[in-house]
Amino acid sequence: MFDTKQVIGELQQMRDEGHLSDALLRRAVRRIHASDDRFDWVGVYLLDAEKGVLWLHNYMGTPTEHATIPVGEGVCGTAVSEKANQNVPDVTKVSNYLACAADVKSELVVLIRAGDEIFGQIDMDSRAAAAFKDEDEAAVNALADKLAEQLVAERR
Ligand code: SME
Repeated sequence: MFDTKQVIGELQQMRDEGHLSDALLRRAVRRIHASDDRFDWVGVYLLDAEKGVLWLHNYMGTPTEHATIPVGEGVCGTAVSEKANQNVPDVTKVSNYLACAADVKSELVVLIRAGDEIFGQIDMDSRAAAAFKDEDEAAVNALADKLAEQLVAERR
């Protein structure tokens, strides 16, 4: 697992140097993906609230056909419609699950949000069953909060 304080420090340093959300979102995905063998696929989806879809901003792992996901569909879209993170230990139990790769067994979606305003999410897949622990969600949530700070600052 990544060192939460260290990665947050890196993201803040990038902000201080003038990097915008595009660069921060990519750095966060790369740091999370590289930090643990359990994290086979890590990506960021951003929310287009007007269109009601999530769009894939960047990812590490095998290519996915889910470049856009309607709000309410799949684990990702459900996180937005329910305004809640999703920790799914067994993806076969989710009726509207959208498979990214056939060997994925568990998934964690952590929202990037500022209060009720949802900017998007960090989506993680694992080939291990029940791969994601509460500590993982807490650590990724801390990064998501830092990313949200930058997205708030860029809000138009
Ligand atoms: N499994 C997700 C779709 C995204 S891919 O895993 C990258 C879902 O059910 O929403």
